[in-house]
Parts: sequence; structure tokens; C-alpha cells
Amino acid sequence: PNTKQNASSLKEIKNVKLKGYVGFERIADQYVSKMVRDGISFNILCIGETGIGKSTLIDTLFNTNLNTTSMDHCSDKVSLVSNTFELKEKNINLKLTVIETSGYGDQINKANSHEEILKYINEQYENYVQEELGLKRQIKQINDKRVHLCLYFICPTGHSLKAIDLNTMKALDSKVNIVPIIAKADTICKNELIDFKKRIMDEIFKNEVNIYQFPINENEPSVNNQNLITNSLYPLAVIGSSQMVKVGNKVSKGRQYEWGTVSIENEMHCDFVKLRESLLSTNLFDLIELTHIKHYQMYRANRLREIGFFDDLEADTDQGDFRTIKDVYIAKKSELDEVIQRNEIQIKEEFVKKVKAKEQEIKEIEKELNGKFNQWKSEQNEWRDRIEFKRRELDDQIREFNERKFSLDKLKLSTLSSNKYS
Ligand code: GTP
Ligand code: MG
Repeated sequence: PNTKQNASSLKEIKNVKLKGYVGFERIADQYVSKMVRDGISFNILCIGETGIGKSTLIDTLFNTNLNTTSMDHCSDKVSLVSNTFELKEKNINLKLTVIETSGYGDQINKANSHEEILKYINEQYENYVQEELGLKRQIKQINDKRVHLCLYFICPTGHSLKAIDLNTMKALDSKVNIVPIIAKADTICKNELIDFKKRIMDEIFKNEVNIYQFPINENEPSVNNQNLITNSLYPLAVIGSSQMVKVGNKVSKGRQYEWGTVSIENEMHCDFVKLRESLLSTNLFDLIELTHIKHYQMYRANRLREIGFFDDLEADTDQGDFRTIKDVYIAKKSELDEVIQRNEIQIKEEFVKKVKAKEQEIKEIEKELNGKFNQWKSEQNEWRDRIEFKRRELDDQIREFNERKFSLDKLKLSTLSSNKYS
């Protein structure tokens, strides 16, 4: 019914001409002022083996030195290290969070290398959902730590992707915008690089890994061209450096070797400039927006479905699916009431069972005590009878003794008297 209602209200929309200036055309300026006032949060996740050049590339991208410390090469599991920085370009403040993997690819068994990373990404979405659902929050104050860009650093082996690369990219591709890059591209020669790139893209395509596509929008031809070129350069071959080198009269970031100098800014040497322009100048907003409208919405929808919410198209009102918060609340409450009732009955039954068991136990103890008491009583009676018997025996013996003594005394007396008169 809702969809029908939407369709009919759509029909009623008419084009109306304004008779004069009203002012809403300035909304774009309002957006810009808001952005200048609030700044933007941008969060980059760098996945790559230890020492592959993650920190150097971020420093090179933002033309600064973020001074991040090197990771431990011997950790027994993958972990993530996050650092947040405040950057300013003209009047725009950027709150940049860089999350780097630590120990990635250092374990013998690499099958679960993506788990900690996936957990981190989900945790950021979960925090955002929780903040969004919080009754007292204000949207603009939500601390946005969701990962907007995932730079996946491929080892410059010249061969092909490793199993760990495909596993991880596949596990994360519905969660974040993945941009695969070939790290330390100066260590691989030009012809090999072309074949290497082709093999990598074939593998990505064959394994149906969804990587971020720089957007093509008919209304912006200049952006379009650049994005088309960047998409065609996938995976972008990059070189990072914090050193300045001089090539001819030009000084730029680069790497100096015995045999020559590589300039990072030289598009013949690597794709770094295209990467920086496409990520930071042209598509930064798209990366943030896509994270929100695609990846985050999918996470949020799944979470809400778990709670019991259905989207209009999914909900089947005839089947009584829930729609409003009140409906969900009532349904959840009756569900919980039922659970509480069931638990109460169960607790009562268990209580009665325990009381009965205790009663039985007490009865058995009582029986045992009674038995012991009776035994003790009969033993006592036996002893008493025996003592009584002994006492009577003794009495008889005393009596007998006294009788004998008496007769003896009598005899003695008669003997004495007869002797006297004779
Ligand atoms: P961990 O954080 O310790 O895992 O390392 P990381 O991936 O952040 O690498 P880091 O940027 O610290 O660089 C490691 C080493 O590689 C340093 O000596 C860098 O100078 C060097 N390096 C970085 N980028 C490049 C590159 O593009 N080419 C070459 N040849 N070396 C590079
Ligand atoms: Mg690092």
C-alpha cells in the first residue's frame, strides 16, 4: 500500500516557475560553509605486508611527515594500528585517520589474515549505528570512524597476486572501497609492470573481487576523463618517498639510485600523481558518500533486520511484518514477555525439583540417624541387662557369703559355749 501511495504522490509533482528571486539557490554555498565550519573526517585503511611502504605512501600522498612508527615483524597475529591527525589545506580542516596493518603476511598460516581487519571495519559501522540510534545524539556530532578508503598494497613480485591478497580483498570488497596498488613500483621494470598489472586484473576479475571504480558521470566531462584514465591504470603502480630529488631544474619527491633518479611526480615513472589526484582532488567526496550509501547502509540494513525492522519493499503487510517502531517495540516486548514467562515457569519447576530433592536428602539423613539411634539404644539396653545380670549375680554371691558367714559365726559361738560348760 505504501508503494502505491508513493507512486500516486509522484504523479502529482508539477513543474512550477518562480516569479522572482527567493534564495534557495544558495544552498550549495551553505553546504560549503558548513564543511568549512565542521571540517571533514576521512579514514584510510592501509593493508599490506610489513615494510611494504604503507607509511611512506601516506606521507607522500599528504605531502607531510606523519612520523608513524614501524611495525613489529614477528607478531603471531595481524593487528591494526590507528593514528588520527588534523590537517589543514587553505580553510578546509581534514581529520585524517590512518589505520595500518601490523604483522600482515608474517604468519605461516595466512588463511585468517583478514579476520581482524573485517572485525575492525564492522566495529566502526556498529559504533556508527549505535550513535545513530542513540536518542540524544546529534547527527553532526557523530564521530565518523568508518573506513572510507582501503589501499591494498600488492607486493611488486612481478608474478601475480598471492592467495592472501585474493582472500582478503574478497572478504572486504562488500564492506569498503578497495583501491589496489602495486607498492614500490620502482623495483619492477616497465615491460614487466604492464604484464604484472594485466595478470593482477585478470585474477581480480576471475575471482569476482569488487574494487572501487572511479565514478563516471556524464555531466562532468573533465572529471570523467580523469576517472576513465585512473580506472584503466588499475592496479596503480606507486612509489613513495620523503626525499627531494633534482631532475634537471625540477626538484620533486623521488628516489635516488646509483643508476639514476626516479621522480614520483613523473607520470612516466609511476601512477602516483593519478592516484593522488583521483583520491584527494576528485573523488574524496565520492569515497565518503559511497561508504555511507552503499557499504554502511548494507551493514545497517542487516543489523535492523536482525532487530526486526523490514524495509517497505521487503515487508509483507498481509503476513503481519513489522513496520513502525511501535510495532517492533510491541512485538519485541511480547516476545520478551513470553521468554520471561517461560523462564519463570522453568525457574519455579527447578525450584520445586530442588526442594523435593533436598526433602528426600533430609529424609534419608533422618532415617540414617534414626537407625544409628536405635542401634545405639539396643546396644545400651543390652549393656544395661548385662550389668543388671552381673549385679544380681553379685547380690546372690554376697547373700550366700553372708549366710555362710552367719552360719559360721553361729557355729563358732556354739562351739565356744560348749567348751565353757564342759
Ligand atoms: P611497517 O609499518 O613497519 O609495516 O612498514 P610500512 O609498510 O609502513 O613501510 P615504510 O613506509 O615504513 O617503508 C619501509 C621501507 O621501504 C623504508 O625504508 C622506505 O624508505 C622503503 N620504501 C617505501 N616506499 C618505497 C618505494 O616506493 N620504493 C622503494 N624502493 N622503497 C620504498
Ligand atoms: Mg608503517
